Amino acid sequence: MKIDPDELKVVYAKRNMSAKLRATEWALGLWEKYGALNSGDTVVDLGCGERYAAAMSLDPTIHYIGFDVNQESIETCTQVYPQYRWLYADLKNDMYNPDGKIEPRTFQFPIDDHTADLVICASLFTHLETLEVAQHYLTEIQRIIKPGGHL
Ligand SMILES: C[S@@+](CC[C@H](N)C(=O)[O-])C[C@H]1O[C@@H](n2cnc3c(N)ncnc32)[C@H](O)[C@@H]1O
Repeated sequence: MKIDPDELKVVYAKRNMSAKLRATEWALGLWEKYGALNSGDTVVDLGCGERYAAAMSLDPTIHYIGFDVNQESIETCTQVYPQYRWLYADLKNDMYNPDGKIEPRTFQFPIDDHTADLVICASLFTHLETLEVAQHYLTEIQRIIKPGGHL
């Protein structure tokens, strides 16, 4: 999988995300080193925001699924990247969705078993608030990731 660094810079500048460029370049380097992201892969991004969709949009072979509890962000991403699957759930989170109606501790992601070659959780676990939610998310990730996939 090749994402051109110059194109990445341009896309991030266009979407006002230049401050996140270095961290994204670091992650892309890591995935390359471990063979975690290859052409044609399916990527599931939990707590997605917009950051990695912008990068993935530079490789049209990638299938990308973004999931977040921030409805506004998911609505924006749906418009900017209509080629991808965007999932929103009204899960309670004190910082990002304080009025959320759904308890994240038992929530099942609307994603089939063994879907993802790569699951991304960038700056997500630090926001999950309790150990039970974090443990439940790990169980769900184990369900949706393909055998041999990467987290
Ligand atoms: C610090 S931001 C990181 C966004 C993006 N991953 C990035 O690296 O730019 C944390 C994200 O996690 C989302 N989030 C918070 N609680 C969540 C939960 N229980 N499940 C999924 N996403 C959640 C927030 O809405 C927010 O988009």
